[in-house]
Amino acid sequence: MRLQSISRRQFLKLTGSALLTLGFGQLTPAEAAAQRWQPLHTIQNSLDSRYIRQIITADSRTSRTIMWQADKPEPSAQVEYRTAGSDRSALAAAAGGLFTDDDVSSYIYTAVLSGLLPGLRYEYRLLVGDAGTSWYPLQTEGSPFFKALIFPDSQCSDHYETWRTLVQNAARRHQDTAFYINMGDLVDNGEDHRQWQQWFSAVDGIAEQWPLAPLLGNHETYTLDWQIRQPLAWLAYFSVPENNSSAFSHCYYSFDYGEVHFAALDTQWEESDPIQPGLLAEQISWLQRDMKASRKKWKIILMHKDILNYDYWGGSREPEDVIDPVGRALMPVFDELGIDLVLSAHLHTYRRRCHIKNFQPDPAGPLYICTGVAGNVRYYDIPASHFDEKLAPQPETDNYLVLETAKNRLHIQAFLPNGALMDEVFLVKR
Ligand SMILES: [Fe+2]
Repeated sequence: MRLQSISRRQFLKLTGSALLTLGFGQLTPAEAAAQRWQPLHTIQNSLDSRYIRQIITADSRTSRTIMWQADKPEPSAQVEYRTAGSDRSALAAAAGGLFTDDDVSSYIYTAVLSGLLPGLRYEYRLLVGDAGTSWYPLQTEGSPFFKALIFPDSQCSDHYETWRTLVQNAARRHQDTAFYINMGDLVDNGEDHRQWQQWFSAVDGIAEQWPLAPLLGNHETYTLDWQIRQPLAWLAYFSVPENNSSAFSHCYYSFDYGEVHFAALDTQWEESDPIQPGLLAEQISWLQRDMKASRKKWKIILMHKDILNYDYWGGSREPEDVIDPVGRALMPVFDELGIDLVLSAHLHTYRRRCHIKNFQPDPAGPLYICTGVAGNVRYYDIPASHFDEKLAPQPETDNYLVLETAKNRLHIQAFLPNGALMDEVFLVKR
């Protein structure tokens, strides 16, 4: 049998069909609740599924996306979920299909759990017929205050061992994290199936229990021969919240957590315009609508590419204009929208900048942090710009960040791989 790949559009259509089949949107909440809870299913065989993962949704108080992969089709796959320890459960149908990339085929499944209650501990498992997995924990958002782990570029040349060590240790140290973010360039080559396997293997035990908010980087858009393509694997692996774009569906998105509204941007327009033009203009228009519609206290931008260029690498003086085209395009929009914090990556260096407005140091503008590197690909001797207030210890290693919110306060901490604090900063808003 000849294997057929499904397109992203077909994949999304299947997901939507599954939701309609479940009747979401057709029942009243009371009817849905009454129908939902049934005795637990009996499991007679173990299920051979892998890379089981939670993906962030727009509203983590009431919903969560579950995804996984399998070598064989899993018809009628479902996610069974319950409040922790309960003897009654509910089912969410999964949708999915065959995905072929880098000459490797697998089946990718997605189920959306909706109608969850805020602040509850749930458990979920995968079901296919009488086969199933063990239960995994799932916590819905229940407090205005939370902690999140933030990982910069995880691309590696060491079979993702640096990434594995960093992410596993960070998760062990911060078991109270609500979710984790990977800032793009998850892998070095977006078409390389083996690298994706290694990335997923590295987050084993983490991906099942905490939702991921992934960003698109430039490396997700590279073919095996380093040409630009659509980020097919990233889009297939991570069903992030919808942005209602026809050309760039799921490439950028937003979500709420606690008192924060996050926008995760796609900064790839300079490279992707030749194959799919229009990303920048469309995204700015979306971001203006999206941020203005949010009533959240804090507004945070997550974006892969950075606002500065360090092309004066090698000892020459900082140029007059150190702001790169990405910064030139987006920073005025961030000024206009009252963004509090902008987190970027891509340069594989940790830089806490000052607040910047109108391209100048200004306490009235957003705080900018280039988050560093979470893999083993290092760029050395990057000069400091006049915007940079704090650098990582030199020569740099990998690192991660923790964002913690409290009443009237954001607390951002940067850690070395051994857990030592290397920088922290507070943002306060009454
Ligand atoms: Fe990058």
